[in-house]
Formats: sequence, C-alpha cells, structure tokens
Amino acid sequence: MGEPVAKIAAIIGGGVIGGGWAARFLLNGWDVRVFDPDPEAEAKLAPVLAQARRALPSLTDVALPDEGALSFYSDLSEAVAGADWIQESVPERLEIKHRTFAAVQAVCPEDAIIGSSTSGFRPSELQEGTKRPGQIMVCHPFNPVYLMPLVEVVPSPATDATLIQRAKATLSSLGMYPLHVRKEIDAHIADRFLEAVWREALWLVKDGVATTEEIDEAIRMGFGIRWAQMGLFDTYRTAGGEAGMRHFMAQFGPALKWPWTKLMDVPEFTDELVDLIAGQSDAQSGHMNISEMLAARDDNLVAMMRALKANDWGAGAVLNAHEVSLRAGSVLGASADDLEDVSVPILTVRRAVPLDWTDYNGHMNEARYLQAFGDATDRFMALIGCDAEYIAMGGSYFTAETHIRHVDEVHAGTVIEVHTQVLTGAGKKLHLFHEMYDGDRLLATGEHFLLHVSLETRRPSEPAPGIVAALERIAAAHARLDVPQGAGRAVGQRP
Ligand SMILES: NC(=O)c1ccc[n+]([C@@H]2O[C@H](COP(=O)([O-])OP(=O)(O)OC[C@H]3O[C@@H](n4cnc5c(N)ncnc54)[C@H](O)[C@@H]3O)[C@@H](O)[C@H]2O)c1
Repeated sequence: MGEPVAKIAAIIGGGVIGGGWAARFLLNGWDVRVFDPDPEAEAKLAPVLAQARRALPSLTDVALPDEGALSFYSDLSEAVAGADWIQESVPERLEIKHRTFAAVQAVCPEDAIIGSSTSGFRPSELQEGTKRPGQIMVCHPFNPVYLMPLVEVVPSPATDATLIQRAKATLSSLGMYPLHVRKEIDAHIADRFLEAVWREALWLVKDGVATTEEIDEAIRMGFGIRWAQMGLFDTYRTAGGEAGMRHFMAQFGPALKWPWTKLMDVPEFTDELVDLIAGQSDAQSGHMNISEMLAARDDNLVAMMRALKANDWGAGAVLNAHEVSLRAGSVLGASADDLEDVSVPILTVRRAVPLDWTDYNGHMNEARYLQAFGDATDRFMALIGCDAEYIAMGGSYFTAETHIRHVDEVHAGTVIEVHTQVLTGAGKKLHLFHEMYDGDRLLATGEHFLLHVSLETRRPSEPAPGIVAALERIAAAHARLDVPQGAGRAVGQRP
C-alpha cells in the first residue's frame, strides 16, 4: 500500500480570508492550490502562512500532519481541476461571485464541495443561474481562519444533503467547528450580532459618550471574556441564579423596552465621524504596528483556547476532539495489543512546542520538560491499559522519582518526539527512560520510576493481570536493547 494521497483544496481569492483558509488546509496536510489574479498574491500569502505556522501548531498536544504542498495558479481551471474542496473568497460582490462559480463549475468535479466565504449573501443568491446549485453552500469563517474554530455552514434547500454532511466532517477534520445554519438569512448568525454591536458603538463614539478605547475596555474586561466561554444565553442563565433563565427574563426583560439602544439607526459615516474614530483608534493603539498586534492577537487566542481545552469546554472541547482524530490510526492512539513490533523504544509524544512553553530566552521552560515527559509516562500507562477507566476502578501508578537531563536547545514551534524505553517493568515497579528528539537531534532525557498503588489503601499493590502481561511483553523486548546513555545518572555527572 502506498502513502495516502493528500486531498486537494483550491482557494479562489487569496486575500485576508482566502490566505487564512489556505493556511488552515495546508497545515492540516492538504495540498493547496491558490488562484488570485493579483500578481502580489504569493507575497500577500507569505506573512499569513508565517503567522499560522507560528500559532496553529500550538493549539493541540499532538503534532499536526506533515504540511501539504502549496502551489499558485494563473489559470483558475487548472487550480480547480480534480480538487476535493473549492473555497471561494473573492471580494463581496455578487457578480464576481457568480462569474467565479461559472468558471469553477466548468471544470471542477461534480461531487466537489464549493464553499463560499461570503459574510452577507444567502446561499440561494449565490446559486442563482449556476450549473449545479446543489454543490454550493456558504462556509463562512472568522478571522484569523487558521485559529478561529467557527465556520457557519449555510445551505439552501437546493444544496445536496450528502455534500453538507461531508463539508461538516471535513471542517471538523481541520479542527474547526461547523455550525449548521438551518435557515438561510442575510449575514447568517454571528455577523448579525457584530453588526448590532458595531452600530451601537458608532453611536456611542459619535455622541461623545465613549472613546474607542473605553468601548474596547468595556468588552475585553467584561462580557467579552464571559461570552468566549458561555455565549449569551448560558451567561444569562447563570445570572438568573438557581431560578435560571425564567427568573433572568422576568427581571431584565422589561428593560428592553427602556430607551437604552439606538439599534435600528445607523449614524452617517461623515468625514467628521471617520476622523473622530480613526484619531481615537490611533491614540489607543498607534504605538504598535499591525504585525505586532497580529502576533499579540494570536498569542492571546492560543492561550485562551488552551485554557478552555484544559476544561474541555467550548472552543477547547473542539481542540480535544481534533486531537482524538489526530491520534487515531497512529501509534499515539494504539493499545499495546495493536503494536506488532515493541522491540524499539515506543513513540509516546509527538507535538509542537507551544508558544506559551518558552521563557525569556526563547527556550522551552524547565517545567515544560517535566510536562512533556509526564505526558509520555501518561501515554505509556494508557498504552499498557492503565487508562482513565482503569484508574476509576482504583489502581494507578504514582511517580516516585524523576531525573531530567537537558542536552540541546528547544524553541517554540519545534516538533518534538519522545521515545520511551522500559528499563524495569515487573510487579509493582515501572522504570521508564524517555528520550526527547527534534528529528535526529537529542534534546533531553527524562527518567521516571513509578510504583503501582491501590487508590483505596494508598499503598503499593500488584497491577491487574492485563497490565502485567502488556508490560512484561514490552519489558522483555526492551531488555534486549542497550541501557541508554545517561540512565541512572546522578545529578552533576557528565559523560
Ligand atoms: N475580512 C473578514 O473579516 C471576513 C470574514 C469572513 C468572511 N469574509 C468574506 O471573505 C471574502 C473575501 O474577503 P477578504 O476580506 O479576504 O477580502 P480581500 O480583499 O482581503 O481579498 C479578496 C481577494 O480576492 C482577489 N480577487 C479579486 N477578484 C478575484 C477573482 N475574480 N478571482 C479570484 N480572486 C479574486 C483579490 O486579489 C484579493 O486578494 C468576502 O466574501 C468577505 O465577505 C471576510
């Protein structure tokens, strides 16, 4: 059997959004073909790709697949021929979108998905006059597309139901969250809120009630954080106390009739208003250039989503689901019985070093070495059957001793692998030696000695027979390997 063939995404329009899509597909192992008539298209995509390569691998605790191949086309037909997914991200003008669909459908496979990034048009408007309307649906992403999970998938009644399901599965496989918008409507769901908030903010600035900075603080110090984890309705539900949503509505519902908002009106965009807002915005953030702001944005998004990941909540739960699919089918998701060959140290970690794992020197923090080796030990325990289910039944391994050696430098973004050798695996004793690599470069070693314990008595105890058998098999195979250099070394001893 040969290598699996990478799927092909054709990105039509490589601006802010198309560039983000290109990065999202590419970093998840797809081959990406970009068509954009702008002669600067390749140069425009380069910084977006650099930002994505810096931030996206940080999100998960398992490495992404190897990047696919990226190519640029001056002929749209060549870009879409044979593509599995065509993502249209041309300017928001209906006639350009219609022209694009006609050119795409003249050559693309009949069962390819054609997703449109449109922020405002309904799918039935996009489908008007097209050759195969069933192929077209809105797949509306959020900037930066390589980090934000949400994609509004908006079909019309004419869209093929099988393609909708396939589109949702594909987006999930890219680590995204497809929100199926069941009823088409101008601007879909999310942008309708943003539009309302934007209108209200413009009034507040125009009327001199608040500056751009004060409005941003009102969001980021308060409801912005709340919304990121619970959204609108769950936030209000918790605000209603034990009595929940009904109580909340009884208390605050009447307030909607008070003259709080001007939501239906839009202030006129006079030169005066534009100058006022642009001036306040310069005063607020003019000390940073845009690439500094983008880097800060990405660092913050990664940190927030990783915090939610630890709680398996919201956008973090999407990352965990993505991680499960990244492990599936690889040795990182296997059980000991699945492993045919245990004669060499076993791969227990393969991940990128995330942005928040490095210190002021740009090196991986000492505590993170322990985390990586601790993850390797956890993975090894799961491999031999000491998984969450077993632990819930009352047995586990406790770490009694750890020794880490730092051999070479490690930086953010490096894809590290940990290979684990069993030095002792008998009865209650488990002695592991981990080696951390970047390719062939040895970065660090970590040695752990663990004892199996009963979680009831908190005393050492014999593991279950299944664990003993799985461990003995690996320990017997590893006994034929050389004892690794550095094993059993005391602190301060050098080779
Ligand atoms: N910017 C956002 O925040 C955002 C968010 C979600 C969705 N969208 C939607 O994404 C789409 C693209 O928006 P954007 O912000 O990336 O715009 P953009 O101006 O950054 O990019 C548009 C790109 O399309 C290219 N282009 C122009 N005509 C083309 C053609 N005929 N064929 C192929 N490429 C062509 C341009 O050269 C440009 O690179 C719009 O429909 C917009 O509503 C934008």
